[in-house]
Amino acid sequence: MSRDRADNLCFTGYLGKRVHLGVTGSVAAYRALDLLRRLLENNCAVSATLTRGCQRFLSALLFEALGADPVYTGMFDSPDRLGHLEPGKNADVLVVAPATADIIAKLAAGLADDMLSCQALAFSGPKIVAPAMNPAMWENPATRENWAKLLGRGFIGVGPACGGVACGDKGAGRLAEVFDIHAAVLRALSPNDLAGKKILVSLGPTREHWDPARFWSNPSTGIMGTCLALAAWLRGAEVVAVAGPVDTRLPEGLKVVRVASAREMLEAVGDLWPDMDAACMCAAVADFRPKPFGRKKFKKKEAQAGLSIEFLPNPDILLDLGASKRPGQRLIGFAAETSSLNASLKTKLKAKNLDLIVGNYINVKGSGFGTMTNKVVVADAAGRIEQWPELPKTEVAWRIWDLLLQL
Ligand code: CTP
Repeated sequence: MSRDRADNLCFTGYLGKRVHLGVTGSVAAYRALDLLRRLLENNCAVSATLTRGCQRFLSALLFEALGADPVYTGMFDSPDRLGHLEPGKNADVLVVAPATADIIAKLAAGLADDMLSCQALAFSGPKIVAPAMNPAMWENPATRENWAKLLGRGFIGVGPACGGVACGDKGAGRLAEVFDIHAAVLRALSPNDLAGKKILVSLGPTREHWDPARFWSNPSTGIMGTCLALAAWLRGAEVVAVAGPVDTRLPEGLKVVRVASAREMLEAVGDLWPDMDAACMCAAVADFRPKPFGRKKFKKKEAQAGLSIEFLPNPDILLDLGASKRPGQRLIGFAAETSSLNASLKTKLKAKNLDLIVGNYINVKGSGFGTMTNKVVVADAAGRIEQWPELPKTEVAWRIWDLLLQL
């Protein structure tokens, strides 16, 4: 699986955004190169400052060769006399990754005795800090106090993660996954127009077991729903994703409830719905489940005369949500069809009491299960209907939330 597919953070719309990346002297410094590359893939412009400690591990040339511009190395090495003020004037986000105990202490104390601490002190925009250090250093009361100070002042903390660190010790102190740091940067760069909204997204297929070795399901991979959950979270919403069995990845800041069957999904979604401002049911829920054979695996010799399986109807989760929708709540459904898409959208929109429905053909190239693109028709409760061109699913997701804001 390609990284784009696994991460789904291939969102565009960041052209013209500028990120300043501070890298300090940690063994994890090399992972900042991956962060740099990902941000450049989002079309951000990235400048960087490498502390003296970082330069013992990695050279400025490496960052320059990968596309960071400019790369600052020291207070008095900058060709620009006012380099210590430059990120504060031009960058939209400052991210320090990895951040040692030393830089965290400097940021907490407001010191400005090197290029990075100076630039941070002169930076009034969103500041993201991803610590990396030995667990004993992280647990030290001095670091705990410094960290609490930063969070209290509105710095955005990512990690640290738990696990083994370079010296062989185990505990909290590992640099967070680059995926999560990257997500936090994109969130800080995105419009905050869904802030204050609680949004539920269901995604992926459901799996209906017949015996312990066999189930009934569908080819949904959860990409569209993952893009929807991510886009809403990037735009400031509090998001809960109820996910069927899929391997797509979501950032730490998003709550994910994993389920397998339609009935499990109904239970999870039903518990969450009363507290939500909006829900988008993107999951490909199995409408039927096989009547279970039992706890024991079915052996093929038992079916020498062929096999027929009885199916039972599953609950329609979206129908239930629509029936219990309270004033002010917004409900979005999906529809997967092989024919008569527009007619079916109108019927489902009304039958399930939806505010918006998004439909696509599953038998058309560039659309439907497992693709990175989708070609959808959207219809709202006011009777408006629009066909969108084939777009990346990230873009479809972004536009759906744009519409939600107008419903
Ligand atoms: N859905 C649901 N529970 C089900 C079936 C579908 O919540 N048991 C939701 C899907 O998540 C989607 C919408 O209903 O948002 C439409 O799903 P779709 O499979 O296109 O249609 P169905 O309502 O199942 O009808 P049909 O399969 O007959 O087209």
